[in-house]
Amino acid sequence: MIFNIFTLFPEFFESPLKTGLMGKAAESGIIKTGLIDIRDFSDNKHKRCDDSPYGGGSGMVLMPEPVFRAIEAQKKNNVPLILTSPGGRVLDQAFVKELAGKGEISIVCGNYEGVDQRIIDRYIDYEVSIGDYVISGGEFAALIIMNAVSRYVPGFMSNTASLEEESFEENLLEYPHYTRPQEINGMAVPEILLSGHHEKIRLWREAQSIEKTKRVRPDLYNKYLKK
Ligand code: ADE
Repeated sequence: MIFNIFTLFPEFFESPLKTGLMGKAAESGIIKTGLIDIRDFSDNKHKRCDDSPYGGGSGMVLMPEPVFRAIEAQKKNNVPLILTSPGGRVLDQAFVKELAGKGEISIVCGNYEGVDQRIIDRYIDYEVSIGDYVISGGEFAALIIMNAVSRYVPGFMSNTASLEEESFEENLLEYPHYTRPQEINGMAVPEILLSGHHEKIRLWREAQSIEKTKRVRPDLYNKYLKK
């Protein structure tokens, strides 16, 4: 899987790409990340990439010229170009899977109050939000997209079965997990999990998933019922 990341802060990605499963995947080459510093494409002597909004208002806007140039310098046909934005479609597991299937994606990390609309009109295939809240830099969102997508890359996960059993498959949240010890501070592991009765355990876990989804995520539960 190849990621091309257009960012004002390439150093942001250094530590995550050396850490945990992403670090391992980067080292083995199953994920490759190209970091493109948008500031390198600024013609301003201070490498400024923000300017005030036409029409007034608070905050600054990511300028079109450096982003246009950065994208043109990298231009790849048939590679989806994503913009991180709180105004985008909210990332979900189905879309993560779809992106993983592309083999290569490019992400422009949105910054400031927003990006000049003409960047979106000319180049962006998908505006993607990581949820209904605002963060201060698209780099966080890009990293989340990269991590979620990477989990579908063959070899990234040591246990690929967990890709099918986990939260959001079938629109259900995951059942509770337990490991040793069998009891801690008076709290015991549910008896059924010690029974060795695989079918009963499967049914118990399914019931737990359904109950939790109904309680915590009624929106997801409705999708589950409709499927
Ligand atoms: N930038 C600011 N908030 C964001 C969000 N929720 N998702 C993606 N990018 C963002």
